[in-house]
Amino acid sequence: MSTPSSPIGIFDSGIGGLTVVREFIRQLPDERIIYFGDTARVPYGPKSPDTVRRYSLEIGHFLRSQDVKAIVVACNTATAHALPTLQREFPLPVIGVVEPGARAAVAASRRGELGVIGTAGTIGSGAYERAIKEIAPNAHILARACPLFVPLVEEGWLDTEPTRLIAREYLAPMKAAAVDTLVLGCTHYPLLKPLLAELLGSDVALIDSAHETAAETARVLRARDLLAPTNGDGWRRDAPVAHRFVASDAPDHFLRLGQRFLGSAIACVETVTLG
Ligand code: DGL
Repeated sequence: MSTPSSPIGIFDSGIGGLTVVREFIRQLPDERIIYFGDTARVPYGPKSPDTVRRYSLEIGHFLRSQDVKAIVVACNTATAHALPTLQREFPLPVIGVVEPGARAAVAASRRGELGVIGTAGTIGSGAYERAIKEIAPNAHILARACPLFVPLVEEGWLDTEPTRLIAREYLAPMKAAAVDTLVLGCTHYPLLKPLLAELLGSDVALIDSAHETAAETARVLRARDLLAPTNGDGWRRDAPVAHRFVASDAPDHFLRLGQRFLGSAIACVETVTLG
């Protein structure tokens, strides 16, 4: 039975979803988070929709067994392939990153010329185009898969010559189409924001869905009276909120790279094998 003090479950194919956790901690500091990164089976980007759905369901069942009050799919590829399946399967709020990102992009766009970048799976699914068209039927959308960005970010090559070259190549059609807004439709891309902003120029709005997804989760929990109690409720927390980090593979990589994505150190990662 979910209560306001139950944790929020957030999952991703690996460590990238920690960029989303970071925003949740900023906007919802009283919420306890249990994060699952499927590090044993990352990347999801090139995998088939059926496989990604199967993995996502397994993770959903694991999170449910931890008594979460909501599931947030931080992974764009898993949202694109599995969100409706997860929403049918679990009797609790399941929130993805695509719709919130699409809403933020439409709100930011001045001329209705939008670009979307993501993994091959996310772009191939057409999920962002559908979500944007639903809100802004007249928008022009140019979508492009940028599969090399994920390994470059994991390598920490956020602003090296090879990354610049590849980014220039990927962004050339976006520049040619004069997009005014670019959706960073992948957990890893927010780390490339400074480089992408420099290459595209300051008049192109760069949207990452994390902010809007945390805001949407807050709205959904508030509507169900499931927001965690805050100091404002006359209740005082004695200890800092304790989040849990769980990975499906050995924790070394997670511990090493986690800080880059989360913005603060991770002390402990549990290992849980699925499938
Ligand atoms: N987390 C994935 C996404 O946001 C990127 C990494 C992967 O391919 O699994 O689409």
